[in-house]
Amino acid sequence: METPKKIKIALLGVGTVGTGVYKILSGQKDEMINKIGAQLEIVKILVRDAQKERKGIPGKLLTDSFQEIMDDPEIQIVIEVMGGLEPARTYILEAFRHGKHVVSANKDLIAEDGKELFETAQKYGKDFLFEAAVAGGIPIIRPLKQCLAGNNLTEVMGIVNGTTNFILTKMTENGMDFADALKMAQELGYAEADPTADIEGLDAGRKMAIMASSAFNTRVTFQDVYTEGITKISADDIRYAKEMGCDIKLLGVAKNTPDGIEVRVHPMLIPSNHALASVRDSFNAVFVHGDAVGDTMFYGRGAGELPTGSAVVGDVIDVARNILHSCNGRIGCTCYKNIPIKKMEEICNSYFLRIQVFNRPGVLANIAAVFGNNQVSIAQIVQKKAVKDCAELVVITDAVREKNIRDSVTVLEGMSIIKEISSIIRVYNPEE
Ligand code: NAP
Ligand code: HSE
Repeated sequence: METPKKIKIALLGVGTVGTGVYKILSGQKDEMINKIGAQLEIVKILVRDAQKERKGIPGKLLTDSFQEIMDDPEIQIVIEVMGGLEPARTYILEAFRHGKHVVSANKDLIAEDGKELFETAQKYGKDFLFEAAVAGGIPIIRPLKQCLAGNNLTEVMGIVNGTTNFILTKMTENGMDFADALKMAQELGYAEADPTADIEGLDAGRKMAIMASSAFNTRVTFQDVYTEGITKISADDIRYAKEMGCDIKLLGVAKNTPDGIEVRVHPMLIPSNHALASVRDSFNAVFVHGDAVGDTMFYGRGAGELPTGSAVVGDVIDVARNILHSCNGRIGCTCYKNIPIKKMEEICNSYFLRIQVFNRPGVLANIAAVFGNNQVSIAQIVQKKAVKDCAELVVITDAVREKNIRDSVTVLEGMSIIKEISSIIRVYNPEE
């Protein structure tokens, strides 16, 4: 019997994702020979501390020398699952220069420096795949760049951060406040010790930049994405949203409009019967609209050892197949357009505002006048509660430019009848 071909791989990092990749590739070892016609073998693993024992990972594979991996001509694929900007960026570029293909899960780096990484991969005729960088185990980059490539894609919208979706689910279903729900997410290992990137919307913003670039064939970087997190969402906001038949979700929205690209991440009221409202706990979902296909939706686990490992291994198999058929570098950078990015101030939304006012005659008329003077049309206004001389109002606006809302809020905040503007949350409106 002919000895099966062997494709040698190096892992850069063996934390959560790296361990998942190692487990999947080890479990699929024999299967791969039939699946792709070669064995896929991890032969070296880069870590900071090569002496530290790592459960389930043979110590003989560990190294703290990146150069050792570069100097091994038999290693054809490098999997970067270290995270962070540096040294990950330098290592990936070096790997291309040393003739290796790269698979990465590093959203921070790709959302920042994608252009340079793709150009370098292309220069050396190497594959650079990154399915795991967005929405963990959910296949979404491949659908955007390949399966749906026959479409003019106009919208990508989704829940792409599991930690915040878990927190909002607990606040909605168990009446927990933000701090307790965050603590629970940390205890369950969803949120990191420093949860800033998740709860401030930065993690979701990086994923939206990558998806917008892939969907609209134009470079969108993290700096182009408006981000707002969930730290200001209160139990009252969630309760009032429920009374209106809505849930509050942290949504990423990317649209390709005739005036440019919109890309943003912020909390949003969405109707409780909308498909994205049923995405609970740490699950992710991405909705994509194309002119030919219509609406499509992708759902699953957006993080974790095995789900993210699954996406990485899918990419590794693609690279291996390309190696076996001598066709690497088939799908490189797909950003061949240069579409302008719209400013957040120009984007239209409906808004939910929760306002604390002094309870006096004429207050409502004064507030209505401020909105009117700024061309903001009010769809609903409700007094929720009055305690002593204070009242809480909830105002829902019709669709209006963000600038008009910001101008209204600036005026309202300077008025003596206003105690506090407690919340400003955008409201999903399918017609915008
Ligand atoms: P992690 O658990 O912190 O693991 C990082 C690994 O990289 C560790 O083994 C660490 O080595 C190694 N490492 C870090 N810096 C290094 C350096 N300078 N030199 C050598 N080794 C270094 O991270 P993770 O959660 O697996 O995430 C990895 C990547 O996947 C990130 O880009 C992340 O955004 C992305 N991602 C993660 C998830 C998820 O669910 N966790 C989901 C999607 C995407 P030591 O152990 O020696 O410190
Ligand atoms: N921290 C992310 C989340 C997973 O909570 O979804 C890694 O992208």
